[in-house]
Amino acid sequence: MDQSEMKRAAALEAVKYVQEGDILGVGTGSTVNYFIDNLVTVKDKIKGAVSSSVASAERLKKIGIPVFDLNDVDSFDVYVDGADEINGSLEMIKGGGAALTREKIVAAVAKKFVCIVDETKLVTMLGDFPLPVEVIPMAVNYVSGELRKMGGRPVFRTNVVTDNGNCIIDVRGLRINAPKDYEEQINMIPGVVTVGLFAHRTADVLIVGSQNGVKVIRRDDQNRDEFNSSLIMRADMQR
Ligand code: 5RP
Repeated sequence: MDQSEMKRAAALEAVKYVQEGDILGVGTGSTVNYFIDNLVTVKDKIKGAVSSSVASAERLKKIGIPVFDLNDVDSFDVYVDGADEINGSLEMIKGGGAALTREKIVAAVAKKFVCIVDETKLVTMLGDFPLPVEVIPMAVNYVSGELRKMGGRPVFRTNVVTDNGNCIIDVRGLRINAPKDYEEQINMIPGVVTVGLFAHRTADVLIVGSQNGVKVIRRDDQNRDEFNSSLIMRADMQR
């Protein structure tokens, strides 16, 4: 199986989490695009969706799924989204597609976060993937300086404006050994809208498309640690 086949397999499994009569939270990215394509088969079961990006909203509307403004929705059960990296505690780096702020907001409202990835996204320590930070345009230089003080190498993402009209800085070289602390510290820098670390709001369910089929890991699984470390070690070895 190549990477896109593994993404497609994880996305297909996630359709099982779509609940009758509910509004569905939908994330952003290529794995989520496969998920949206699969929603054609169950779209009559759901009331509609809330989306973490303009791009996903357009894709949902194209297949006839109504898209609600999050302000018009009190609560919903399930949010399905991808990740750029995910560790054994189901903490993630997200924002490769620049949708991190809306993703964090939609994930905060959802009762259950179902993360869909291919096995290349599994890591023992977050930080190989450059950490995206959404920044107010006038604060780019200041925030970059603060990120340098933390030991990172900030790189301005060119030709990208987020759906909120802001910029993205990708931070290389961080060894994120305490994800919650990094999330808090970076979010505290004036000018930062959101850091793409999801350590306080982790995934609840991880669906991994792998060479050996699809694996499902729940945050509250008794044997999660043992299971995860073998899966993650294998992914690390394949890099
Ligand atoms: C977008 C995201 C995506 O979930 C993340 O970049 C993964 O993308 P893909 O499914 O294309 O690998 O956070 O902002």
